Amino acid sequence: MPYENILVETRGRVGLITLNRPKALNALCVGLIKDLGAALDAFEADDEVGCIVLTGSEKAFAAGADIKEMADKTYMDAYLQDFITVGWQRITTCRKPIIAAVAGYALGGGCEIAMMCDFIIAAENAKFGQPEITIGTIPGSGGTQRLTRFVGKSKAMDMCLTGRQMDAAEAERSGLVSRIVPAADLVDEAVKIADRIAGMSRPAVYMTKEAVNASYETTLQQGIMFERRLFHSTFATEDQKEGMAAFVEKRQPNFKNR
Ligand code: HXC
Repeated sequence: MPYENILVETRGRVGLITLNRPKALNALCVGLIKDLGAALDAFEADDEVGCIVLTGSEKAFAAGADIKEMADKTYMDAYLQDFITVGWQRITTCRKPIIAAVAGYALGGGCEIAMMCDFIIAAENAKFGQPEITIGTIPGSGGTQRLTRFVGKSKAMDMCLTGRQMDAAEAERSGLVSRIVPAADLVDEAVKIADRIAGMSRPAVYMTKEAVNASYETTLQQGIMFERRLFHSTFATEDQKEGMAAFVEKRQPNFKNR
């Protein structure tokens, strides 16, 4: 399928999506969000893909929602179109893990999209921020909520109220990103990590994702019970038998349901 605003390829069992509006620093226009949703649908349906990497350019992962496109919207436009809801949430409903590989600017909606992914790997030059306040608005796709859960109230307030950017080192220290890698290696490293995940048992991968995500939505006791029930259910899978047999026999597992 031809896309206007993204590049799509597979590397082994990894689906790689590259945001590609270089002249606008990957500003997230309606067309780009549509392309992204369609690419995620395609990877989700493809049994040969086990994990997805979402990246941008070396200068910008994405500099936010497209300001030129939204500047003249009225309240009624925004409300009736349910502006930002439609399309954007596709990332959060994907069952396959999505790794955000961020170099350069991840601002506004760009930071929000990175946070919707399952985890973030940052290049040394990555910069995260919620600068919406500087253009007279506020984050609209989870920035105030997800950033606060990642970095705590004090840093989230600081970033959302002043619009200041966080560099990669601070983002890693604060728990926003899981690892920092040299910019030149970003995509290769992300694909390597994604390939490792894609080699695991797919039911176990899905269950892990469901259980970790449940921790945001439930009490500790209920979350632990949910995890326990999923854990029990892995014993009904061929892959649990294979994984444990491989350990005992000192060999690599060959999971059937990858
Ligand atoms: C539309 C954008 C854009 C954006 C950059 N561009 N960001 N176009 N929407 N969000 C365009 C510029 O207009 C310019 O196009 C080109 O990209 C290069 O940008 P420059 O500003 O010339 O680059 P530079 O001087 O290097 O500065 C980089 C930057 C700056 C610091 C990232 O571009 C910037 O501050 N961008 C806006 C960041 C922002 O406020 N994001 C939040 C958006 S609101 P031309 O044609 O002039 O050359 C948001 C709300 C989310 O995301 C709500 C829910 C999703």
